[in-house]
Amino acid sequence: MLSTIIYRSCPEQGMDADSLNKIVAHSRHKNERVSVTGILLYDGTHFFQVLEGPVDAVNRVFDRISGDARHYQIVEIMRDYAPSRRFGKLGMETVDLRDYPQENLLLALLQKSTINTQFGYDDRVLKFIKAFIAGRWRHTLVPQQQIVATRFITEEVTFKLADDASHQPCQFAMQPIIDAVDKQVVALEALIRSPQGGSPEAFFAALSGEQLYTTDLQSKRYAFELAKKIDLGRTSISVNLLPMSLITVPNAVEFLLDEIARCGLVPQQVIIEITESEMISRFDEFEIVIRRLKSAGLVLAIDDFGAGYAGLSLLARFQPDRIKIDRAIISNVHKSEARQAIVRAIIECCSSLEIEIIAEGVEQPEEWHWLDAVGIRYFQGFLFAKPQLNGVGKVTYPLESSMQ
Ligand SMILES: Cc1cc2nc3c(=O)[nH]c(=O)nc-3n(C[C@H](O)[C@H](O)[C@H](O)COP(=O)(O)O)c2cc1C
Repeated sequence: MLSTIIYRSCPEQGMDADSLNKIVAHSRHKNERVSVTGILLYDGTHFFQVLEGPVDAVNRVFDRISGDARHYQIVEIMRDYAPSRRFGKLGMETVDLRDYPQENLLLALLQKSTINTQFGYDDRVLKFIKAFIAGRWRHTLVPQQQIVATRFITEEVTFKLADDASHQPCQFAMQPIIDAVDKQVVALEALIRSPQGGSPEAFFAALSGEQLYTTDLQSKRYAFELAKKIDLGRTSISVNLLPMSLITVPNAVEFLLDEIARCGLVPQQVIIEITESEMISRFDEFEIVIRRLKSAGLVLAIDDFGAGYAGLSLLARFQPDRIKIDRAIISNVHKSEARQAIVRAIIECCSSLEIEIIAEGVEQPEEWHWLDAVGIRYFQGFLFAKPQLNGVGKVTYPLESSMQ
């Protein structure tokens, strides 16, 4: 099976023709030995490389290239499979785009290729090459900066620490959702834990059927009590609920409203997080619950957006107040053109619909930097704060945001 990887990167300063020729000669030799071919384009500011060959060999070469300090901001553009090579003549063709007038570029590249042009013009690789030559990708570029630890500040929070709650049927760990522009905690997500502090899976594993939904709903009482104990103030609290708990447990919304009031909270500061895949399966019934939650003033968020199968079609039927982009899309977003394109589309869509976006699962400064540059200001993840049982841990904020 032939695999293809395309990436784009920026050369480190001081990349002259000599250095480039050395890379190309070395690459050609190394690639030929493992049956990898391709082309390396350079336009004076960026590299664009196509690598093709056996899956393992291409992966190994790309891994090596990704760790090479002579270039940075390496973004994977495409990873795909094909029946034949587009550049099958040499271990590595190369073209400095500045050596050709724009109108002759494509022809020059095609002459180096082994593409069967009778079938090849619809090929995505060729389309990516044309897009690179035309420079259409440039407007989406996020300026690269050295992301160093000194660009972040860690602060203690003002919330109290509640007593151990292992005598309860469940406990909660609080994880802050931060506003990276105003440097403040805007909400705390209450994450369920077993009485021993174990994971949500450990807590729910022993439950089934109706018991699962009743326990899920009733557990929120302890989340709201914890909010009171830690002195939540005007900050919001986010709780996860299975849609089926709201649909099947009688008077579920009334129960939530009673508990919210009993703990001195107001509905407007309570966010109900629902996972998209669970939501769509009984949407008609869930729509009735949505109406009641919204009329009571509660805030609705779709959790793990992009992880399920509903995605944009769910947004067509129902627009929540917030969406939380799933960690699988956020993870390594700075290195992946596909993830970047998806996040941009979500931003565009949510901005038209006035839906607030939270990026969850942010762990690396580079992920935050990219997301900040495209306009996301609310974040959750280990980079900013870890969940803490019965309280709130320290919070780290970026010192500057591109939105300031
Ligand atoms: C823009 C760029 C493209 C490269 N392309 C290739 C390549 O196609 N094949 C390859 O083996 N090395 C390539 N390299 C070099 C690798 O990153 C790495 O330095 C080299 O494979 C290590 O070889 P060695 O194990 O012989 O030292 C490239 C480096 C850069 C900066």
